[in-house]
Amino acid sequence: MSSQFAISVRDLEKDYGDVQALRSLSLDVGAGQFFGLLGPNGAGKTTFINVLVGLVNRTGGEARVFGADVTDDYRQVRDRIGIAPQEFNVDRFFPTKEVLMHKAGYHGVDRAEAADRADEVLRTVGIYEKRNTKFTYLSGGMKRRFVLARALVSEPDLLILDEPTAGVDVELRRDLWRIITELNDEGTTVLLTTHYIEEAEQLCDEVAIMAEGRKIAVASPAELTQRGTDTLRILLDETPSGVPDIDESGLENGSIEDIAVEGREVVVTAKRANAVAPELVRRLDRAGYQATNLDIEPASLEEVFVDLTSHDADDADEGEDESGETDADAQRLESPEATT
Ligand SMILES: Nc1ncnc2c1ncn2[C@@H]1O[C@H](COP(=O)(O)OP(=O)(O)OP(=O)(O)O)[C@@H](O)[C@H]1O
Ligand SMILES: [Mg+2]
Repeated sequence: MSSQFAISVRDLEKDYGDVQALRSLSLDVGAGQFFGLLGPNGAGKTTFINVLVGLVNRTGGEARVFGADVTDDYRQVRDRIGIAPQEFNVDRFFPTKEVLMHKAGYHGVDRAEAADRADEVLRTVGIYEKRNTKFTYLSGGMKRRFVLARALVSEPDLLILDEPTAGVDVELRRDLWRIITELNDEGTTVLLTTHYIEEAEQLCDEVAIMAEGRKIAVASPAELTQRGTDTLRILLDETPSGVPDIDESGLENGSIEDIAVEGREVVVTAKRANAVAPELVRRLDRAGYQATNLDIEPASLEEVFVDLTSHDADDADEGEDESGETDADAQRLESPEATT
């Protein structure tokens, strides 16, 4: 199978008892991409990641990382992935550098090289001066930095970050963004989950939106945003006596959803407003209205996200929300090496 994909899954299923955490999920992430996985709580993002890294066994379907099957070629797959999990799973009572050296050792790196690498990644994430400090004595933000260092020490081709910036301050968030972006620029494939939509918008070249175990959409943030509704405000030279009577049909590359009047402004909600604006101004002109100014408030990815995920919730067949357990349970399934 081709390995131009860092991740390739087909009809992936994961059931936890009667909870269907992944439902016929098919997804490809190209090598070198910065790929975002978005979805509300319980959408199945962490489950998907856990299947990739072998912490959770899939119920059905195919899952490959750089062409290797995540179960059959578990070792090979694990060697190419660095993961910063959603919940910390670190040996708390060992100095950070030692944990990193141990992790590198697990990936077959000899001790001298492991020491060099540990120093290097500690510098990359900015906690080199804490190299002899036990994980448990790091601050919350430093713990986040450390978990990234641990993901990097094996020099992975695929870096998986499960909500790396949840609850961190602005400075650390920007720092993490910079570090991850640099790694991606150097060729590391990144899979990122986040609840900060603007983070996905800024960082990712493609995002998948998931809800209730299903994939709802995959596209670049810009393409997804275009599915949303923009607001176009056209200022007229005088207050119209009512909503201008213009033909709303036949607009290429866009569509009008509503036209209203607020004082001297005609307020139009439209898909791809910038594509319809010139023709709209012409039609207003023909109807006897002079436009003097034009302003477009573009749709936001956040609105599109809410729209897409709430539609899915409406369409969902059976409610499975009663199960209160989420990540805590997933963490129980960690394999021993994940804690090194
Ligand atoms: N170990 C487990 N045992 C039973 N059910 C689980 C387990 N792990 C996850 N689930 C269930 O699977 C579904 C998906 O959970 P998952 O943790 O993958 O979601 P998520 O998208 O990562 O959510 P969040 O944004 O809250 O991290 C949820 O309904 C959850 O309760
Ligand atoms: Mg999760």
